Amino acid sequence: MKKLVLLLIATLALGGAAAPSSSYPDWAYGVPTPENEATAPHDDGTAFSLPGSNGHFTRGQVSGAGHTPPADWYPGDHPVMPPLMAAGDAARGISACAGCHYPNGKGRPQNANIAGLNANYLARQLHDMKTGLRRSAEPRKHNAQQMVDFAKAMTETEIVQAAAYYASLPHTVPIKVIESATVPKMRSQEGMWLPHESGVQEPIGNRVIETPANVEREQLRDPHAGFIAYAPKGAVAKGRKLAATLDCASCHGEGLHGMDSIPAIAGRSPSYLARQLYDFQQGTRHGEMAAAMQPVVARLTGADIVNLTAYAASLPMRK
Ligand code: HEC
Ligand code: HEC
Repeated sequence: MKKLVLLLIATLALGGAAAPSSSYPDWAYGVPTPENEATAPHDDGTAFSLPGSNGHFTRGQVSGAGHTPPADWYPGDHPVMPPLMAAGDAARGISACAGCHYPNGKGRPQNANIAGLNANYLARQLHDMKTGLRRSAEPRKHNAQQMVDFAKAMTETEIVQAAAYYASLPHTVPIKVIESATVPKMRSQEGMWLPHESGVQEPIGNRVIETPANVEREQLRDPHAGFIAYAPKGAVAKGRKLAATLDCASCHGEGLHGMDSIPAIAGRSPSYLARQLYDFQQGTRHGEMAAAMQPVVARLTGADIVNLTAYAASLPMRK
């Protein structure tokens, strides 16, 4: 009896600490640390420019500090943004969508590439967030909670507008998947992995490490700059095999380019995709359509998530 009580107490204590499961993709989060954030480049009044853009913006203008609309480096490469996408609404606590997802929808690994996804899919996600059916399984993922709060504050008209806007955008810069036994040692900043200043290499282990192809340009939120995803040797081939066994294409369509309101996963951020697989597994993403993913994720291990997401990221996006 005493043993049973102790066991019960131990179980309760563990439940409270929410021990991450063995499939937890820690590499997909890049949780910011206060020390690393303190060294992030700050606005010193310098105006920057980017190739092919007429814009000159300070870092504060780039990020939309003080609720100003974030910089739009290439206004010619997307339709006119609806007001909430371009500027947000400070009164309701909604930040400009463009600040995180960029005006062209490319986003960063720490949020999501939403360019060219199906409009019904996008609207469903915003509804699921609004009604508590979708949140991150990682409580430290602050920006995912912000995203949920924005969705909660959006009106139905704004949801439809946002879904239509991002669905209308062409796909953007492909991710370059590089298989390698070693990877530059990284540190997180703003939720991204940036090469550590020591320049040392370390074994990749069971991780996919996504990092900007050009750190300076990404820090200026260049919507034309891309990302590199380092993956373990053989990951893409193993992922291809597992995707065939689990028949991802039967729902996500040929080339994993999406089918009706089932989203494209080809060419998308492996970090983003891994977080979603984990969320389905942990049950924090449990909208009506998420049920279809339940049998798929039921037995995925951490290594399976590495292989599947490296494979999906390596596929060309639909033209
Ligand atoms: C502070 C940064 C931030 C801003 C601003 C932001 N988002 Fe997001 N958004 C995120 C993050 C982070 C995620 C992914 C969460 C995760 O990893 O689970 C996301 C995910 C999404 C998704 C789901 C994508 C998918 O493939 O399922 C949609 C749709 C979306 N955002 C739309 C919007 C819209 C519309 C706005 C403007 C009203 C907006 N976002 C503003 C951070 C942001
Ligand atoms: C039986 C149909 C079905 C199969 C098979 C399936 N999926 Fe899905 N998947 C879905 C649906 C439906 C959604 C959208 C869920 C929602 O709306 O929340 C989805 C969503 C996803 C997402 C989230 C995308 C985003 O933008 O957030 C990922 C990642 C994903 N699936 C990966 C996979 C992988 C990898 C496989 C194969 C191993 C697979 N799926 C097999 C139906 C399926």
